[in-house]
Amino acid sequence: MGELCGGEYLVIDKSVISEIKNSLNIVDVIGEVVPLQKAGRNYLGNCPFHKEKTPSFNVVEDKQFYHCFGCGKSGDVFKFIEEFRNVTFAESVNILGERLGLAPLVQTNSSPSQHHSPHQSLYQINQEAAKFYHAVLMTTKIGEEAKQYLYQRGIDDELIRHFNLGLAPDESDFLYQAMAKKFDEDAIAQSGLFTLSDNNRVYDSFRNRIMFPLKDDRGRGIGFSGRIWTEADVANQQAKYKNTRATVIFNKSYELYHLDGAKAVAAKEHELFLMEGFMDVIAAYRSGIENAVASMGTALTPEHVQHLKRFTKKVILTYDGDNAGQNAIAKSLDLLKDFQTEIVQIPNQMDPDEFLQKNSPEELAKLLKESRISDVEFWIQYLKPANTDNLQAEIAFVEQIAPIVASAQSITAQNTYITKIAELLPDFDYFQVEQAVNSVRVRTRTQVQQQPSQRATIVELPMAKRLTALVKAENQLLHRLLHFPYLLQEYRNREEFRFETQTLQTLYALLCQNGELTSIDLNHLDEATQQAYYQVLEENLPDEIAEGELQEIEARRDRFLEEQDLRKQSQLIRDSSNQGDVDSAVAALEALIAQKRRME
Ligand code: GTP
Ligand code: MN
Repeated sequence: MGELCGGEYLVIDKSVISEIKNSLNIVDVIGEVVPLQKAGRNYLGNCPFHKEKTPSFNVVEDKQFYHCFGCGKSGDVFKFIEEFRNVTFAESVNILGERLGLAPLVQTNSSPSQHHSPHQSLYQINQEAAKFYHAVLMTTKIGEEAKQYLYQRGIDDELIRHFNLGLAPDESDFLYQAMAKKFDEDAIAQSGLFTLSDNNRVYDSFRNRIMFPLKDDRGRGIGFSGRIWTEADVANQQAKYKNTRATVIFNKSYELYHLDGAKAVAAKEHELFLMEGFMDVIAAYRSGIENAVASMGTALTPEHVQHLKRFTKKVILTYDGDNAGQNAIAKSLDLLKDFQTEIVQIPNQMDPDEFLQKNSPEELAKLLKESRISDVEFWIQYLKPANTDNLQAEIAFVEQIAPIVASAQSITAQNTYITKIAELLPDFDYFQVEQAVNSVRVRTRTQVQQQPSQRATIVELPMAKRLTALVKAENQLLHRLLHFPYLLQEYRNREEFRFETQTLQTLYALLCQNGELTSIDLNHLDEATQQAYYQVLEENLPDEIAEGELQEIEARRDRFLEEQDLRKQSQLIRDSSNQGDVDSAVAALEALIAQKRRME
């Protein structure tokens, strides 16, 4: 579904990429949009990717990359354009190529060639239908009545125009009569706007509904959602909303309402509100908040999440304050693990639109900006036992919540959560909760190390030091392999050799395969691996390899791995004896003693 699929990347010539990169200075490119000060060998400025007052955005001229010590983002000049302008890799190649006077090098989905899209007539028919429905709402007698419904919900003419709202008349084929003149049978049949009856007559799919045009993230019409508005339909218990059925251009599990309007503000604010309903997004807009989107009658799906990844790193869940809303938040948080998340709490079971009606646009704006809690706070409230007199329930809760607390970003935050939890539970004090959290910290850390996620880079745990000892050694090793081909050859010949850190192993495998790592190779890696690459570049090593340097690095790495093994064994012994499994405990203990001997 994403724009990066298809042939976009395959047609870019690697040598062209290096040529562009070598002909530009990243300091000039970034300097045009971010004021930079020379600081030692590097340039420093305020990070364009997160809000900050003291500069921590570093541009390293001799290595031609940037790195922010605040938010951890880094990349080369292509990556900067991608992130800053919110475009694809291919588009960034064109933008930078153009600076050098080159004609567009890569065909991208936003090049003029898109007009030849095979689905062009489907976008057009949706566009035309939206105009048609809007005209019905604005100029007919029945439209006047439907407008009264909207007015009464606080939607004035300006909002109607902005969201291009419309009305599907209560007629069997009004839209069809208008569209049949302009579009061929295929477009009519595939648009999803019509249904064919048994006797081969074509009917409009939407009748007597207020129409919300649905657009893709580039603003092209892809479908509609229609809402009932007459008392008769409400009394008949008609479905409240009805969407265009799935078509080749409309997949409701991928599309998000108003993403086209929200994306620019989301890029600037570094966050995006995710809501449940169309009316909620419109309410947010009325409060001056444009970076809000909604799913379309489905719960959030993994496809939505992939889609969101292209536009933001931080999602503010703004679901209804009722029970269903809380359950939906829990499900969505599970899907949004790679994002920063916050939750807006709406009082009295209201949705954002109802809150605006009961209060005011200003108060909704205030709520959306100020009444947020962290994901951990949400889980504490969501999971806490209804009855705190029940010891069993308290224990179960602590076991559930401990790993969540342990995953929080900072130790200070963790301590605050521990205090909160202890206050909720009559039978637990601070130290008992802390102990539960500590016992999962060890486990979490080993998982973090095997499977580095974005979160792993910001976890500040006591153990982090030991973890970095390994990563540090491996970073230095990979740095050398990147710059000394003869060394790479030696390691390639050691077939059993692997990096322990997953991201570094990915980079190493790619390096072995291609002999180098280019911008194109990097672009196809996940975010964590890309960041890992720039961390490797950042290792400040002397130009020449010192005598015994590689042996020393490897020894450091091996020492870490052995220590880690010991820690695992000790944990095993503790677990086994806690569970009363004496045999396993003794066996694990024997193995531990044997290993300690070997290490002496
Ligand atoms: P209003 O009543 O117009 O304020 O809508 P709402 O957003 O408060 O509705 P609700 O919370 O019931 O539903 C949230 C979203 O779910 C809506 O915006 C629709 O996208 C979707 N939805 C609600 N009812 C239906 C339905 O009957 N069919 C379908 N397909 N989607 C629905
Ligand atoms: Mn509502």
